[in-house]
Amino acid sequence: MKDVNVGICGLGTVGGGTFNVLTRNAAIISGRVGCNIRIARVASRKRRDDLDLGDIPFSTDIFDVVNDSSVDVVVELIGGYDVARELVLTAIANGKHVVTANKALIAVHGNEIFEAAEKAGVVVAYEAGVAGGIPVIKAVREGLAANRIDTIAGIINGTGNFILTEMRAGRPFDEVLKEAQALGYAEADPTFDVEGIDAAHKLTILASSGIGVPLQFEKAYTEGISSLTPSDIAHAELLGYRVKHLGIARRRDDGIELRVHPTLVPKTHLIAQVDGVLNAVMVDGDAVGQTMYYGPGAGDEATASAVIADIVDVARAVASGSQQKVPYLGFTPDALEDLPV
Ligand code: HSE
Repeated sequence: MKDVNVGICGLGTVGGGTFNVLTRNAAIISGRVGCNIRIARVASRKRRDDLDLGDIPFSTDIFDVVNDSSVDVVVELIGGYDVARELVLTAIANGKHVVTANKALIAVHGNEIFEAAEKAGVVVAYEAGVAGGIPVIKAVREGLAANRIDTIAGIINGTGNFILTEMRAGRPFDEVLKEAQALGYAEADPTFDVEGIDAAHKLTILASSGIGVPLQFEKAYTEGISSLTPSDIAHAELLGYRVKHLGIARRRDDGIELRVHPTLVPKTHLIAQVDGVLNAVMVDGDAVGQTMYYGPGAGDEATASAVIADIVDVARAVASGSQQKVPYLGFTPDALEDLPV
C-alpha cells in the first residue's frame, strides 16, 4: 500500500484527538482509503506527555512541518488568524495539501487561501471547521449537490448550546462556561463562543459552501448569548419556547441574509430538543426538501473525526494521482453568486 504522509501542526484539543484517532484506528482507516496514512511529523509549541509519539519527529517550530519535503498533507490545528494564515499559505506555496479545522481562518482569509490553492493545484479541506463531527460541509456540497439551497439554519456552536442547556437547569453562566472550557469545547478565547463570533464564522462558511456566495464574514449580523439571564430562559419556557442560539443563512429577493442570535424556538420543534454540546443543522433543498444533520459540535475526538475524513479524501486523491478536485466552496468561482449580504 502506498504511504501518504501527514504532518500535524498543533497538539491542542483537536490535534491530540486527531493523533489518537489516527493512531488507534490506523488499520480501519487505511483499509477504507486503500493507502497507508502515516503521521510523518508533528509540531506544537509544547510536547504532550500523554501522547506516545514513538519515533515520529517532533518539533516546537510548526514551520518545520510545511518545510518537510516528505509531508504530503499539512494538518493545521493551531487556530487563530495570522500565524495560521502564514502557515497555510506557506504549505500551499510548497505544493502541499492542507486540512484545517480553523473556521476563523477560512471565514476571514478563505478567499485568498482558496485562490492560492487553486493556482498551486492543491486541496484545502475544512470540514472540521463547521459543526464539529457532523459531516455537514460534505452534505451541502456533495450529498445535496443537485439542489438549489435557499435556507441553512441551526445550532452551530456547541459551547453556547451547552451553556443554554445548563442554564435552563438553573446553573449560572460563568460556572457552565468554565466547565465547557475544561471539557475542551470552548475556543481559546471563549468570547468567540459567547458573543456569537464562532457561529458567525461557521455560518459564513456554510452559506458559501451550500448557497454559493463568496465568504463574507464581515456582513454577518452577530449577537451572542452573554446577555441572557436565567429569567429570560425561564420565561421563554413558560410561554412554550426554548431559547436557542441559531445561525441562519437565507436567500431573499435582495440578497443572502446571514445572522446569528438567540432565538425563541417552539419547544415542539426538533431543534428545541438538541441539547448540550450537540449541534444540528437544517438545510432546505429545492429537490430533496428539508434535511437535518445532528451530532457533537465540539470536542477532541468528535472534531478529529471530521479532520480525518478530510485527510482521507485528500489521501485518496494523492494515492491515486488524481488531478480532480472538489471546488473549494462546492462551486467554481464563476458560478458563485456575488449577492449583497
Ligand atoms: N468552540 C467551538 C464550539 C468548538 O463550541 O462549537 C467547535 O467548533
